[in-house]
Amino acid sequence: MARSWVMLSFAATCGVLMCIATTGNAQDNTRELPEPYKAASIKTGAALYDNWCKLSKFETSDNHPLYPAIGRQSGISTWRCNECHGWDYLGKEGHHRKGSHSTNIGGVYNARTNTPDKLYSTIAGAEKEHDFSKHLKKEDIWALVKFLREGQLDVTKAIDSNMKALGSAKKGKPLYEAQCTKCHGDDGNRRDFDKKLKGKQGVGWASWKNPQRSLHKIRWGLAGRSSPSMIADKKMTDGDTIHILTYCQTLTE
Ligand code: HEC
Ligand code: HEC
Repeated sequence: MARSWVMLSFAATCGVLMCIATTGNAQDNTRELPEPYKAASIKTGAALYDNWCKLSKFETSDNHPLYPAIGRQSGISTWRCNECHGWDYLGKEGHHRKGSHSTNIGGVYNARTNTPDKLYSTIAGAEKEHDFSKHLKKEDIWALVKFLREGQLDVTKAIDSNMKALGSAKKGKPLYEAQCTKCHGDDGNRRDFDKKLKGKQGVGWASWKNPQRSLHKIRWGLAGRSSPSMIADKKMTDGDTIHILTYCQTLTE
């Protein structure tokens, strides 16, 4: 009896000690994340990645100092994160390996494992020419950091090298009808994205032209516009958003 009580109390003490140790660790882990990082919005970060120039009302006709001479874009668009690092976050390793947006600049996908402080300084001036802190508020930089760490997706698992989306159109259809039809119509052609071309350039057209960009917009909404983020506002999974993109690609005339 006495012995088993001792054993029990020994076990209980161990339990309490382990508990303290675990709680201690958990607190340490959360303490590592800076407060402004915890307060930041991934959705805002994703919108800034899309077009911080528009959101911060930044204007220039100069090229960004890091934009390479081999690049074919010019002016304000060369300041956007996606112009250098890609809608698939893979830079020259991804969609930007060829075509009119190609450069010799790498992606940001691997940087998602960096600490928040390291990413903050990458965006805010560790390298002078990559210093966006003159144009962005601190909270915007934290939002970008949070998007880079928590909002990116391995786009190679969502879209193949022939631009085909890899989800299920069947699963995407009801999601599209619930979330997109009211603005884009059943056939995806209510809005014409390129009026210069003949016919209607709707969601089907856009999702083949640049599926990487469409996926970023489906996931996070449009920078500075009312359209909702399927991840942040509708709480969809990554898989759901890929199914929607896959269904969009069936909406071609
Ligand atoms: C004009 C081109 C250009 C623009 C615009 C640009 N970057 Fe970069 N970025 C670079 C270059 C060049 C590097 C250095 C490494 C390389 O070539 O990939 C870099 C590196 C990075 C890295 C580190 C990548 C790694 O793996 O270590 C991050 C993170 C990053 N940029 C985020 C951003 C964000 C966020 C924005 C938008 C606010 C942005 N960049 C806009 C050119 C650009
Ligand atoms: C509240 C209205 C609204 C909703 C809901 C909405 N969109 Fe949009 N969408 C827009 C507007 C506005 C544009 C921008 C049109 C423009 O710039 O001419 C747009 C643009 C797009 C584009 C082109 C983006 C680009 O720049 O390449 C795609 C693709 C798209 N939407 C797909 C979707 C899908 C899929 C859904 C549902 C998950 C959806 N949208 C929900 C209003 C909406």
